[in-house]
Amino acid sequence: MFINNWYAACIADDLDDTPLRVTMLAHNFVLFRNDAGIHCLSDLCVHRGASLSVGECKNGGIKCPQHGWEFNSDGQCTLIPAGIKTPTEPPKKARVPSYPVEEKYGLVFVFLGDLGEDERPAIPDIMPEAETGEWHYGVIPRHKDINYMRMAENYNDPCHVHYIHDFAKWLPKGVTIVDQEITDHYVKAWHAAWDAEGNYSDSSGLVMEYDVISCVSRNTNYQPDYPPQIVTAYVTPIDDHNTQIHMVVLMPKDESTALDGSKVRGATANEHKILVDMTRDVVMDEDYVVLSTTRPIKAANPGEELLLDTDRTIAQVRKMTKDYGDKFGRLDMVALKKLEDTNIRVIPCPGHKTDPKNWIHKTSPLLPTKGRGQLKVAS
Ligand code: FES
Ligand SMILES: [Fe+2]
Repeated sequence: MFINNWYAACIADDLDDTPLRVTMLAHNFVLFRNDAGIHCLSDLCVHRGASLSVGECKNGGIKCPQHGWEFNSDGQCTLIPAGIKTPTEPPKKARVPSYPVEEKYGLVFVFLGDLGEDERPAIPDIMPEAETGEWHYGVIPRHKDINYMRMAENYNDPCHVHYIHDFAKWLPKGVTIVDQEITDHYVKAWHAAWDAEGNYSDSSGLVMEYDVISCVSRNTNYQPDYPPQIVTAYVTPIDDHNTQIHMVVLMPKDESTALDGSKVRGATANEHKILVDMTRDVVMDEDYVVLSTTRPIKAANPGEELLLDTDRTIAQVRKMTKDYGDKFGRLDMVALKKLEDTNIRVIPCPGHKTDPKNWIHKTSPLLPTKGRGQLKVAS
């Protein structure tokens, strides 16, 4: 699991002024909304380790449930109601990490890392259709006890679709990557074009995209004479063995452009609902039957699988994810595990860079990195 990335934390509409605990990268966070926007802090109080998410929102910040310390939305303690003197002036160290938050596509994204504002990558504009208001929108949150990379690989595996999924079993089994576009953090692959008779065609096909930034996979499915379907999955590691998925399902309300540039009719609200229901109630579980029994739990070592050309995108997804972690920091989960019963460790936040001192909770151990820097787009 790697830091310095945007992760989808929750559905924006689910968040109000009731604190919400979210576990990401094996650490707990508290999210809440106030008049100034959405905020994310480390969940554990610096006083005696109580969970702030059990507390309440107050004065634009959050109040710890155990002794009432109040923290503002920057994580700084502003009030200690019961101290030696009452009230006590909070010391500088009375603060918890605070993480950048953005709302996009109906989801809340948190930047888990210490990169400053000018160093952080933008959340990819992978789904501009969702912001037009011209597409039917549905979101499916789902927890799976599967490693996040296994989930991401699945969303970029064109060959599994017509084997695992009932709705696609009629499709021809031959798959070809017909074209690819790739940078050091993004890959887009155009896969076998299908038509209703099982022949390849210019008007139907599957486009799979992956971006390491925000760990997102977009699948766009084109069929002849049918509105396109966009299924975009954000995978957020809860820990090494569990993943939170936020899947956004889109279909155009009005006429849109097909793969071959021709026009195709819009989808009805009911057609979109059927796709959302089928994805949630059937398709995700069909994947789960296989993914939950696939070994090893994380991606296999190179040379211990027999990958073919149609698996090319999966290999690329793995490599760009590894490169990102090498560059921006990967958690040392073995070291972290040894500390968990007796210590609190936190993901570094931008405040750790600007002011590395005056923290009570130390940052979590990281594996050696190859040096930090901006991602650059490969030619
Ligand atoms: S543990 Fe939070 S105020 Fe005491
Ligand atoms: Fe699938």
